[in-house]
Amino acid sequence: MSTTLVKNGTVITASDRYDADVYIDKGVITHIGQGLSMPADTVVDASGKLVMPGGIDVHTHLDMPFGGTTSADDFESGTIAAAHGGTTTLIDFAIQNFGEGLYPGFEAWMKRAEGKAVIDYGFHMIVRELTDQVSGDMDKMVRHDGVTSFKLFMAYPGVFQVDDATIFKALTKTRDNGGLICMHAENGGVIDTLVAEALRKGQTAPKYHALTRPPRAEAEATGRAVALAEMAGVPIYIVHLSCSAALEKIRQARDMGLPAYAETCPQYLFLSLEDMGNGFEGAKYVCSPPLRPADHQEDLWRGLVRDDLQTVGTDHCPFDFVGQKELGRGDFRKIPNGLPGVEERVDLMFQGVVNDRYTKERWVEITSTSAARIFGLAGVKGVIAPGADADIVIYDPERKHVLSAETHHMNVDYSCYEGMEIQGHSDIVLSRGSVIVEDGEWKGQSGAGKFLKREVAREYLK
Ligand code: URP
Ligand code: ZN
Ligand code: ZN
Repeated sequence: MSTTLVKNGTVITASDRYDADVYIDKGVITHIGQGLSMPADTVVDASGKLVMPGGIDVHTHLDMPFGGTTSADDFESGTIAAAHGGTTTLIDFAIQNFGEGLYPGFEAWMKRAEGKAVIDYGFHMIVRELTDQVSGDMDKMVRHDGVTSFKLFMAYPGVFQVDDATIFKALTKTRDNGGLICMHAENGGVIDTLVAEALRKGQTAPKYHALTRPPRAEAEATGRAVALAEMAGVPIYIVHLSCSAALEKIRQARDMGLPAYAETCPQYLFLSLEDMGNGFEGAKYVCSPPLRPADHQEDLWRGLVRDDLQTVGTDHCPFDFVGQKELGRGDFRKIPNGLPGVEERVDLMFQGVVNDRYTKERWVEITSTSAARIFGLAGVKGVIAPGADADIVIYDPERKHVLSAETHHMNVDYSCYEGMEIQGHSDIVLSRGSVIVEDGEWKGQSGAGKFLKREVAREYLK
């Protein structure tokens, strides 16, 4: 294992900015200081650039069977795309099979990633049934396997949805074992009724996917999830929060001092219901929760500034328009739910800096450091500090580029942001000290990504 010296950059972390050199030995940051002169196998010149912790995306669905097909990026193409976009850690979702404990699903996802992932990764476990065996498996996973978070769904009846008793039992479990429940908060019963009504009226176009999942259905479920967590006396993390009314539930909970955490996604900040149009092209934007009218966006940006929202994940769940999204022509229920975005997240969120919404420090916090703290990777990922993994991005805050399916690295035939010009892009990306992307050129190695056994994050989740 070699040594690397990153020279002359401006280090940006969630709490600091200063000019310094960073020395890396065996994949770990060992020294930070001005004018470091130790010999190094590789010297990286970061003059005029930001030196920041690699991005952490805690919400991806790679190689996931869903909606009658499988998401288009596997652990190789999806992690390569993430790396090109300055993300060096993913936490993906493994799925419990009905009628089984958690381990067969977990092992299946470990196999999907092995030999393919190019950056480090962990798993949350999706729980679909909470039997006594599953309950025991939750404890075991937290204590022995480093799987310290579990996703439950309040929507998708018959596929993922669980009832309030199950949610409450799962939350209570985490009181004992220190794990964290991540919630997909939409009221599945209400949505299914609205969907049936729409179809009776012949409303089958993609935009009706969005119109049958109203903000109130998300806000109600968010409030209920927070209330259940309060009764269980544990923290809760709401995934992919999309709208003002749901954010208001989180804000109220946090103002009361409850440990309620929430993530939003770039699509809810940059895209809106209007992008879905009236025709089938709108299928490109079908995801759950759906895109909202544009007037929700300002509230979400404000939520990030005020720390009512702590993280930005992508919910990257790509399906080709041709052959996959097309499964839902004539019936929006059959459009596979999900959007691509793992590659654009760090750059899109840098627009919050460009547009003076928040500082560079806050940008690092919402794209990296908070995720590490909440999901048990603090001190290892999401920081530039001695002892931390050298997952480092040398970022050019001035570099402009245009987002397009022609140039992106995701294995999907469209971009949600086609033609959008943005400012800021990573020049060099290091994963545990190795340069894996340099000036847009791929230099990493398939299978070099390591499975991360995560800790419980009790001390942060207060
Ligand atoms: O539309 C979405 N969000 N697809 C992925 C599954 C989920 O609920 O996160
Ligand atoms: Zn979800
Ligand atoms: Zn998701």
